[in-house]
Amino acid sequence: MIELENVAYSYGGGELLSNVSLKLAAGSFHFLTGPSGAGKTTFMKLCYGELVATAGNVRVFGKDTREMDRDHVADMRQNIGVVHQDCQFLDHLSVTENVTLPLLVSEKGSTYNPQDLVSLINWVGLGKRANASPAELSGGERQRAALARAVVTSPEIVLADEPTGNIDWEMSQRLLSLLIELNKSGKTILVATHDLNLIRAAKSQVQARVLRIANRRLQLAGAEL
Ligand SMILES: Nc1ncnc2c1ncn2[C@@H]1O[C@H](COP(=O)(O)OP(=O)(O)O)[C@@H](O)[C@H]1O
Ligand SMILES: [Mg+2]
Repeated sequence: MIELENVAYSYGGGELLSNVSLKLAAGSFHFLTGPSGAGKTTFMKLCYGELVATAGNVRVFGKDTREMDRDHVADMRQNIGVVHQDCQFLDHLSVTENVTLPLLVSEKGSTYNPQDLVSLINWVGLGKRANASPAELSGGERQRAALARAVVTSPEIVLADEPTGNIDWEMSQRLLSLLIELNKSGKTILVATHDLNLIRAAKSQVQARVLRIANRRLQLAGAEL
């Protein structure tokens, strides 16, 4: 699904990531850890074509992101749902309207069944908040709205960047269970987090592998977690 081969990335100074190789297989569940500033968000951006590797190759669905034009990138993004680290919403639109925004630019939009939208909003537990403004949501509710927005186009891959960053443990668990459910329905999941308790909680429920960025390299963490 996503394949990195000897990838390096630099914002202009020294290399932030060096010699990174990885294959994210279809249906896999990975966590990405590493200290703040290690490059987790950068890594994710390389995976969805927001950034292009300064060396090496990133292939998504078999296609090199370096060779993709804008239309290609837009097509690819239909199949990658991203929960951004700072999930932003349009506060003059309702939660439901925000969740539907990706459909406006998607060919899936014209065939989308409104009932599926109701189901999706209920699935993330926001049925009662569907008409609220995002500004009225709690941190946990915002993250679940962001997850709904990320999966509204039924992407094959879901990338979540510190989705439990600012929320309490119970809400984190709830969000995790949604991600696990998506994985069990066949989606490929990558979650950046530095919450080791979350990873431990996940490991008892799903077969997840843990990647760690340290010293510019990506390593597969051992079983000690
Ligand atoms: N657009 C940018 N331009 C220059 N440096 C950046 C940019 N974005 C991030 N960085 C730097 O790259 C490093 C890694 O950032 P990031 O990928 O956000 O790490 P993480 O998500 O692991 O905290 C940080 O030192 C950050 O300041
Ligand atoms: Mg980050």
